[in-house]
Amino acid sequence: MKVSLIGLGKVGSAVAHAIVLKGLADELVLVSRRTEMARSEADDLNHAAGLEEHSVEVRAGGDVDTAGSDVILYCDAAQSKTSDVDRYCAARGNLERLRERIPILAAASPQAICVMVTNPVDVMTWFALQLSGFPQERVFGVGTLLDTARLRRLLSERWSVHASDVRAYVIGEHGEDQVASFSSASLGGEAMKPSDDLASLARQAAESAGKIYRTRGFTNYGIAGATMMILESIRNNRRRTAPVSMRINNYHGVSDVCLSLPAVIGRRGIERVLRPELNEAEQATFHRGAQRIRDVIQTLAP
Ligand code: LAC
Repeated sequence: MKVSLIGLGKVGSAVAHAIVLKGLADELVLVSRRTEMARSEADDLNHAAGLEEHSVEVRAGGDVDTAGSDVILYCDAAQSKTSDVDRYCAARGNLERLRERIPILAAASPQAICVMVTNPVDVMTWFALQLSGFPQERVFGVGTLLDTARLRRLLSERWSVHASDVRAYVIGEHGEDQVASFSSASLGGEAMKPSDDLASLARQAAESAGKIYRTRGFTNYGIAGATMMILESIRNNRRRTAPVSMRINNYHGVSDVCLSLPAVIGRRGIERVLRPELNEAEQATFHRGAQRIRDVIQTLAP
């Protein structure tokens, strides 16, 4: 499987390294404006690949070298200049770069699955859909998958259970109005009743990124791990269920915007969308997130 990785910032480099260590591509093309940097990063990654059983062949190239990619991982982002997590601060610059690149990437790989990583991921997914002309099952963003992993970790620590057995999803906006959908969550078939304790854990999960940003100035390993889960499910047609940012079609009255819903991810991209029940408070938060994304799209659209 040929994977093209666009953008070699802190997130892109962590994604590239994870792909090599997990062997999730046969060929990995690194695309960056900093050509020399991309070449030396490819050399460094090939040295790591040489020590692995599964060997990923890494090379640097331009947008056109991505031709025939099966998966495009879009991580290209302007350096965030805020000390706190503001996923919208670089939206305009990131969109300008997206507008230049997606048409070239889509023309070179017309059958590719495009996974958006760059923030604001819901907004970038919306524009990637428009600019690529790809069907909506082949353009989606990592969305609230990382938020879901953060919440499950907190719940697993609280209840001393394995995180993968916690059937709870964070959906909606990858941001302030993300929705911890407890009203459709369960553990071992036992429903989770929304409570103050659960609400506090959901707040902690939502605030995780900010806590890390304030110290490191960025996050990269968590988002790389979430991207790997998606890439592995595509490569091995695993049909994992993950909340990803996608074009919403009439979910609790919301349409024509990109937000995260749980989806089954396989070799063809989104194979099935799941629509969990929400209580009134969860619906209100979902709607607030949808409005924020619509407003940002409105301000950025030409
Ligand atoms: C975070 C970034 C990826 O939540 O938005 O860590």
